This record gives sequence, C-alpha cells and structure tokens, in this order.
Amino acid sequence: MILIIYAHPYPHHSHANKRLIQAAGELDQVEVRSLYDLYPDFTLNVAAEQQALSRASLVVWQHPMQWYNMPPLLKLWFDKVLSHGWAYGHGGNALRGKKALWAVTTGGDSHHFELGSFPDFAALAQPLEATALYCGMQWQPPFVLHGTFNCDPARLEAAAVRYQARLADYLTPVSDDATTLAGGAHG
Ligand SMILES: Cc1cc2nc3c(=O)[nH]c(=O)nc-3n(C[C@H](O)[C@H](O)[C@H](O)COP(=O)(O)O)c2cc1C
Repeated sequence: MILIIYAHPYPHHSHANKRLIQAAGELDQVEVRSLYDLYPDFTLNVAAEQQALSRASLVVWQHPMQWYNMPPLLKLWFDKVLSHGWAYGHGGNALRGKKALWAVTTGGDSHHFELGSFPDFAALAQPLEATALYCGMQWQPPFVLHGTFNCDPARLEAAAVRYQARLADYLTPVSDDATTLAGGAHG
C-alpha cells in the first residue's frame, strides 16, 4: 500500500499538486491523507497517522516548496507522528524497511536553487532523507516538478503521467520468472 502524506496549505487553490494527487488517486492501493483538510486547526491525530503509516510499504511526502522548505503542518506532522519508541529509539521500529519518497513541486526552475553555499537542489532533500534513514526507511530518488510558475497544461499532464507511472512501479509485484532469472544470472 502507498500512503501519500499530502501537505498543501490551500489544496483547493492548487494546480500542480492537485493534478498530481488526482493521478496518484487513480491507482488502487493508494491512500491520500491531505493534512490541511484533515487538520485545519493543526491538531493532529497522532494515532490515526501512525496507523496509516503502519499499513504502508511506501510513504510519500508530497508538498509544494515553500521558502525552500516544507509547509509548517508537514513539519509538525514529523515532530508529532515520528515519536520516540515508535519511529526511533528503544523499540522504535515501526517505519523500518518502508520506502520513503519525497514528491515536491517548485515554482522556480532548477536555476532558482543556485544560491548560497549549497547551490544544489539535492541539498534541500537532506533533512528529509536523514529523517527517513534515521527511522530505518529506504530513501528513494525524489520526484520533482520544477517551474510550476510557468507550467503549461501539456507539461503538467506529462508530470502527472510520470508521477502515476513512478508510483505504479512500486505496486507491481516482482514476478517469479524475474526472480528466477535474476537468481540464475548470478549463478
Ligand atoms: C509562501 C510560499 C513560498 C514559496 N517558496 C518557494 C520557494 O522557495 N521556491 C520555489 O521554487 N517556489 C516557491 N513557492 C512557489 C510554490 O512552490 C509553487 O507555487 C507550487 O509548487 C505550485 O504548486 P500548486 O499549483 O500545487 O500550488 C512558494 C509559494 C508560496 C505560497
């Protein structure tokens, strides 16, 4: 099961993320939790969030980039839901082995990120990647849609197809044939 933790502060005003979420939702076995719809007053139901995570084999964190960062409710989600003794620390194994994917849209194109001492977009993934790895998760190559300020419908459609295909790959079971062939190839 794929769980998408979706954090758009104004989900009803979204263009890019709305289309991506729609494409993802067309797949079976995808659960979307829209944090700003669920928790408009920022009071998270930690138990419900943890139960949803327990059901997932792939956890996706999807959001628009805001000031080179995640929207505040998603940050609160990390602080509250990934608790000691559950996600990390003694007995904190709930997320171990699950895959983690960052899906982010940015208004600027890739040049927008060529600023400061770490002018590489990948640097912005570091806190999330480190968090995932700290909890024993398997970090996946991020899904990024740059340039949403100038995103024409055709480019958005292509991104939606790319996102859906990317997620569908995680739902495709590895066939016995493929396993046998791989095993055979390595002797
Ligand atoms: C408060 C705020 C801060 C933003 N900061 C950034 C930023 O740092 N870099 C960037 O490329 N885009 C930034 N944007 C643009 C959003 O990332 C962009 O509008 C969004 O990805 C479009 O997706 P949507 O159509 O789903 O809203 C910002 C937007 C807002 C509202």
